[in-house]
Amino acid sequence: MAKKMKATCKSHPDIAFIKYWGKADPKTRIPQNNSISMGLSNLYSVCTIEFGPSFNQDTIEFLNEKIVKEEELQRIIMVLDRVRKLAKTNLRAKVVTKNSFPKGAGIASSGSGLSAVTMAACWALRLKLSRIELSKLARLASGTACRRIIDGFVEWHKGTNSNNSYSVQLFPPDYWQIADIVVIVAETMKKVRSTKGHSLADTSPFQKVRLKNIPAKIKAIKVAMKKKDFTVFGQILESEALNFHTIALTSQPPILYWEGTTMEIMKRVQEWRDQGLESYFTIDAGPTVHIICQPKDVQRLKKRLKTISGIQRLSVNYPSIGARVINQHLF
Ligand code: PMV
Repeated sequence: MAKKMKATCKSHPDIAFIKYWGKADPKTRIPQNNSISMGLSNLYSVCTIEFGPSFNQDTIEFLNEKIVKEEELQRIIMVLDRVRKLAKTNLRAKVVTKNSFPKGAGIASSGSGLSAVTMAACWALRLKLSRIELSKLARLASGTACRRIIDGFVEWHKGTNSNNSYSVQLFPPDYWQIADIVVIVAETMKKVRSTKGHSLADTSPFQKVRLKNIPAKIKAIKVAMKKKDFTVFGQILESEALNFHTIALTSQPPILYWEGTTMEIMKRVQEWRDQGLESYFTIDAGPTVHIICQPKDVQRLKKRLKTISGIQRLSVNYPSIGARVINQHLF
């Protein structure tokens, strides 16, 4: 009997220390600037895909999710079409996928979800692509997915076209044990999806200034990472988060991703730091706060966070590997 054309992939979302915001080419998702991130070990997406002659159409199932938008299904079908074209096949597929965390709350779910779909589809059709080729292919599905293919601390080189825009490793996951306490304050889907947010970036009068300053910021954070200088690293990533949200807030129309609890946590993190408990916040396109700290301070920070009302869930994460093929299929 022929071997099944089936594969399962697990991928972790990441937190960006230098954010990707604004696209130079929306169609191929070429970003306006390089970005730097780290994979999150305790959050993940898993996707199983099987291609076969018995499927007369593509079917997609999201486990544990009540609402799935048509746009999400279309993005997955576009991945399948791209991979089918590369593998020169017309076979339809069954796709089952799940996330261990809420979508659209400021944890990069499209990055982990669509990198898992891309890798599982390639493996199922026995396409053996290099990590760089996979990174480029995943980028076409979701910008941040191109970072999720790579292990550890990652830089996405914006490049100038589809062939030279991909991610590379800066440091492996075990290079530096820093923690990200992911603080979820709302489990609902954000109102402005990041695709829309990217398209509004150029309407902010500050986007040009931001882009001009990014190369120096990238250089500085890489030096801090190389030296494992947690204080300088933290100062850069926190100021970068505020810089990115300034663009969102001053876009036309403006985008305000924070909830009251988001702001409360931001203020507390700064106060605790003044008292000697060192951590720094960063926030992606949603209300979730990521508290970046050293492992020795995780328990103390968790205890202090318990005093803040409105927190739904906490997840402590360390640097993770990138997308991997696994043997535990979802069907
Ligand atoms: O991959 P997208 O389109 O969801 O972009 C998300 C961008 C940010 O999360 C805000 C920043 C980043 O670099 O992850």
